[in-house]
Parts: sequence; structure tokens; C-alpha cells
Amino acid sequence: MKNKEIAEKIQRLKKEKNAVILVHNYQNPEVQDIADFLGDSLGLSRKAATTDADIIVFCGVYFMAETAKILSPQKKVIIPDKNSGCPMADMITKEQLTELKKKHLKAKVLTYVNSSAQVKSESDLCCTSSNSVKVVEVAFRKNQEVIFVPDKYLAQYTASRTGRKFIIWQGYCPTHAKIMPEDIKKQKKIHPGAKVMVHPECRPETIKLADAALSTSGMIKFAKETDAKDIIVGTEAGMVYPLKKEAPKKNFYPAKEEATCPNMKKTNLEKVLWALEDLSYEVKIDNEIIQKGQKSIQAMLDLS
Ligand code: 13P
Ligand code: SF4
Repeated sequence: MKNKEIAEKIQRLKKEKNAVILVHNYQNPEVQDIADFLGDSLGLSRKAATTDADIIVFCGVYFMAETAKILSPQKKVIIPDKNSGCPMADMITKEQLTELKKKHLKAKVLTYVNSSAQVKSESDLCCTSSNSVKVVEVAFRKNQEVIFVPDKYLAQYTASRTGRKFIIWQGYCPTHAKIMPEDIKKQKKIHPGAKVMVHPECRPETIKLADAALSTSGMIKFAKETDAKDIIVGTEAGMVYPLKKEAPKKNFYPAKEEATCPNMKKTNLEKVLWALEDLSYEVKIDNEIIQKGQKSIQAMLDLS
């Protein structure tokens, strides 16, 4: 079957079953093209919390689909490829977080949404790459001890922007860690005058060379608003596709072509069709974990 035929079938089935298709900005282009909503983690969480569809088909990685389930537990949440994990989210377990909490009894736990539902259930508050600075400034007094998990780079970035100190878990994103300062310098040489935007999951040395550190949807906004014609993009290389679609007159250059997220690319149109046909794979989470996780995510949504 051709992509066009598959996409038509998806649209038909989606209406029949009252499903909504939520898609992250790093997904394959053909999957982005069938999205009802395309966005970053924060935007997708907001959509998942407010949709009136019966079924959410989540095209992203597993923790994102889990977040949708936590926010809409009465709905069926389907992920087209159940093996689309996030290596950073897997770098901390609930048991490891519980141990860390025992060592810092007065600390609050701030957890990046790139984490499992179990870890969220042990957290006080969540944040995303687009709101970590605001969440810290609004939620915690200056002298409050805060454990930040699992991303050491987002934690360092947030610390540098807020002047706070955190107890930092040493997780990181293997895709963003590949983007080195030399890659940015090389692209700047090839495209003099270009603006540089990077994701806060990048190393501090890489972020230092950028004009802005932004979430994926923040990058789209920046690209539309800046006067610069050329923009170097320091994040997952596939990000160039939604950027070009939203700001067609600008030129985008990935800081590093090899910075791709293999898990984000596991979803394709056929898998979305099968997901709708079979209503699988369904994301299932224990009720207790949902209740506890909901508090930390809802607290974030209320603050940002
Ligand atoms: P955004 O929330 O900025 O889309 O980031 C999600 C992610 O997984 C980045 O690697
Ligand atoms: Fe996880 Fe990194 Fe992939 Fe984002 S890009 S989903 S943080 S592995």
C-alpha cells in the first residue's frame, strides 16, 4: 500500500473510532503529516489532558504516551511501537530515586517529564525543557533543597538560569550528548551570520555557543520570529522537517546529522494504521501510580 492510501485509511478509522493522533516534533515526516496535533512534551501533555476523543494514538516515545495516560486515565492510550523507549528516562528507576530521597529527607524532587510513570509517582513536581526555569522560580524558595532527575544537562542549564543549586542525577540524552561545541563551530564557519538554537538537553559547552536554548516547539517559534535567514539547529536532526514546514523562507542546518533518536523513528504510517485497527499497544499503568504521577504533572501544568 502507498503512503497516501495508508494515510486515507488512517483518517477514516480515526473518525470511526473517535481517536486523536498526537505526534512529537521528532517523528518521521509522514507521521507528522497525519497529526491532529504536533508539538513538544508540554504542548502534547496539555492536549492529552483536554482532548474529548475516546482514544489517543501517541506517536512519540513511551514516557510521552504514559504521561498522556496519567493525564487522561479514562481514555485508551495507544502507542504504535511499544519498544519506542527513551534511554534517558531509563537511566533512573523508582528504587534509585527512593534511595536518593532517603539521603536528602528535606529535599523536594523535580523530575523532567522524560522519566517513567513510576519515577513520576515518587516526585513532587515535573518540568519539561520549555518550563524548567519558570517551574523552579515559582515553585521553590531559594533555600529549598531540590533533587533534579534524570537529566544532568537540563539540571545544569536550569541551575545556570535560576542561580539555584540542585542535587543532580547523572542521566543524559545520548542523542543530544553527541552535539559537541566543535560541531557548532564548524557549522558557524560554513554559515557565517547564522543564528544558533540548541535544546537544553545539550552539554553546557554546546549551549554556551548558542543564541538560544529552547524546547522543540520553542525552536519553531524562534525560527518564525527571528530576522535571521540561516539557522543552525542543535537538536535531533529530524527537527529540520517541522521547522522548514513552519518557516519555509528560512534555511535550517542541523548542527550534527548523526544526532538522531532511533526510538523516535520507530513509528511509521503502517504501524499507526495497525495501532488504530487493533487498538494496540495499549498503555496500562497501575491506578496508584496514576494517582501519584498525576499530582506531579498537574502541579507543573498549573504553574506553567
Ligand atoms: P521537547 O519537550 O523539547 O519536545 O523535548 C522532548 C525530548 O525528548 C527532547 O529530546
Ligand atoms: Fe529520549 Fe533523547 Fe530521544 Fe528525546 S532525543 S526521546 S531525550 S533519547
